[in-house]
Amino acid sequence: NYCVQRTFLPQAEGACKCNGWKSQNPPPTPPPPTPPRIEQPIAVNLLEPCRSCSHSLGDHVTHLENVSEEEVNRLLGIVVDVEYLYTCVHKEEDADTKQVYFSLFKLLRKCVLQMGKPVVEALESPPFEKPSIEQGVNNFVQYKFSHLPSKERQTIVELATMFLNQINYWQLETPSQRKQRVPTDDAAGYKINYTRWLCYCNVPLFCDSLPRYETTQIFGRTLLRSVFTVMRKQLLEQARQEKDKLPPEKRTLILTHFPKFLSMLEEEVYSCSSPIWSEDFMLVYLNQILQISVFMIMGVCEGGEKRKSSEPLSHEYTKKSRVIGDIPMELINEVMSTITDPTAMLGPETSLLSAHSARDEAARLEERRGVIEFHVIGNSLNQKPNKKILMWLVGLQNVFSHQLPRMPKEYITRLVFDPYHKTLSLIKDGRVIGGICFRMFPSQGFTEIVFCAVTSNEQVKGYGTHLMNHLKEYHIKHEILNFLTYADEYAIGYFKKQGFSKDIKVPKAKYVGYIKDYEGATLMGCELNPSIPYTEFSVIIKKQKEIIKKLIERKQAQIRKVYPGLSCFKEGVRQIPIESIPGIRETGWKPVGKGKEVKDPDQLYSSLKNILQQVKSHQNAWPFMEPVKKNEAPGYYQVIRFPMDLKTMTERLKSRYYTTRKLFMADMQRIFTNCREYNPPESEYYKCANLLEKFFYVKIKEAGLIDK
Ligand code: ACO
Repeated sequence: NYCVQRTFLPQAEGACKCNGWKSQNPPPTPPPPTPPRIEQPIAVNLLEPCRSCSHSLGDHVTHLENVSEEEVNRLLGIVVDVEYLYTCVHKEEDADTKQVYFSLFKLLRKCVLQMGKPVVEALESPPFEKPSIEQGVNNFVQYKFSHLPSKERQTIVELATMFLNQINYWQLETPSQRKQRVPTDDAAGYKINYTRWLCYCNVPLFCDSLPRYETTQIFGRTLLRSVFTVMRKQLLEQARQEKDKLPPEKRTLILTHFPKFLSMLEEEVYSCSSPIWSEDFMLVYLNQILQISVFMIMGVCEGGEKRKSSEPLSHEYTKKSRVIGDIPMELINEVMSTITDPTAMLGPETSLLSAHSARDEAARLEERRGVIEFHVIGNSLNQKPNKKILMWLVGLQNVFSHQLPRMPKEYITRLVFDPYHKTLSLIKDGRVIGGICFRMFPSQGFTEIVFCAVTSNEQVKGYGTHLMNHLKEYHIKHEILNFLTYADEYAIGYFKKQGFSKDIKVPKAKYVGYIKDYEGATLMGCELNPSIPYTEFSVIIKKQKEIIKKLIERKQAQIRKVYPGLSCFKEGVRQIPIESIPGIRETGWKPVGKGKEVKDPDQLYSSLKNILQQVKSHQNAWPFMEPVKKNEAPGYYQVIRFPMDLKTMTERLKSRYYTTRKLFMADMQRIFTNCREYNPPESEYYKCANLLEKFFYVKIKEAGLIDK
């Protein structure tokens, strides 16, 4: 037994071993983490002699005479904790935990001696990681569910709160238990977090003289990653076991929504690129909406250049300085909060989907309700076959065989069960109803889509689109940003709608010899943009449209100003420049024609000469240097009615034919369109035309001949 008294009696230190102030029969030691506290006051007569030494009890506390009652109570509180920790040290079997208990025991004992406040000094002070788990989960709710109507959003918020509560009372596994379960884990990192958790969150639950923090507020993604998988499994198991005891109003929440919520959260917790863990998540998130809106508004209202769908916004872009005509964030927030019309937005329980719904909307809702599930599965030579996975692979083999009758069944079976191939499978009621079989070539920077099919009675319901969107997100996570596939003649339309084109971005040398070539099929490719959340994309677009509509309405309301009629015509003026009409610019009107027309012919000549020279020197200009030779391109002049080339343009420039920039641009454009008309997209010529065209537009913008 340790001597509490020693701490109160410095003068008798070492000699006095008494424990006379306390009961001979102490209450049994309570088990962690919520032990019953010793509540009953201990009645002691200070004149009584100490049971273990010759002093009177009062002698032991003389140094406390001038200490306030409140302080004495605080110190007594610490004493109780010291005593409890002492028992914990003795009972604890795990070495790491024991060590922490002992350190805390020493710390509290020192506090009693010095009448100080306990501060765990050896560890960094909290918070240990930012954003915190709580912030990350809140960002997740915003990121994935902000489009829902408020009632459904409330349900999600409830789930998030429930989840955060669970973490705050979660018993972490000890470092040695974890090492056994996940031998490859960063053991040292886990031990540090475990120690911090014991000192700041767990022990203070039963030793309230130690300051207590919520796990979710001082830890971030690293700790969440180390507990999530086990926690998710245990929570779901517990929910299943207790399902009959759940109150009816909680049943759907816990049995239906919670598993889905956890699966979606799991993806964000383990993803390397999830934005919810970015410290400036809110800024990036809103900025993205804002920037897209600004571009669209500039396109709609001010005659500015619209953003092409092929130029998505990257996170870097959104972080750049604001553009002219930018809209303040507060305004965007305000507009977002006014968008309340449920029919204008997508909602999870919309049973009658409108005619304008996105193709994947129904599938997304079904997934959210847990009606359908998506899993990436495959056969493995090193792992023991899992019966369910094998059943699903057989199901996939069946769907592919039925939907792709021209493919030999044995061939499908071989690839579906080949360990190098994986299949994103779509499961409904436990059965496979569709899938995309693919093979990743990470070193070559692309993935080959081998088979893609949805069972007949489930087609054209949006499953194909949603499958492809999931596949895109899966690949972004694995940092492969190109898909290639040989599409059947009948499936070209479907692939086009999923963003595939015949213009292949992957260099031929990267895929020839890797991808399987199918006779009669067309090679198509799709380049992924890692900043697009594909499965949510149509929802985001819909939300942006609403924001833009509101912003336009506001802008219109602001400029509704009546100017007096023009009087100049009465005064005999026959014509005035349009831009001089009062108010015309406020409506967003801009002079027709982009860019400046250079008035000085010599200045125009030298600008065009300079541009033409640069285009001719470009490495992709070689196919266009001279007119196409008939013998080298059979039938060329039957297909191309207005040929053009860089030599002809040079001659035209010399003869001062280009009196306006438009004439020059029209000829140059013709070179590119002719090339794309005559040559197949996968040809070198076609690619040269695309690259040279891009270069040309950069140069012409630099020269100020068109707006930047
Ligand atoms: N041709 C043209 N458009 C199509 C086709 C098609 N064959 N199939 C679907 N679409 C359109 C849909 O009408 C829809 O367009 P919309 O949004 O404008 O209405 C869009 O593509 C997506 O429709 P979803 O409902 O999302 O797709 P679905 O669930 O029907 O799945 C799929 C599409 C996989 C092609 C399915 O129709 C199928 O299994 N077909 C038979 C098998 C097949 O041809 N597979 C592809 C072979 S190529 C290969 O595997 C590499």
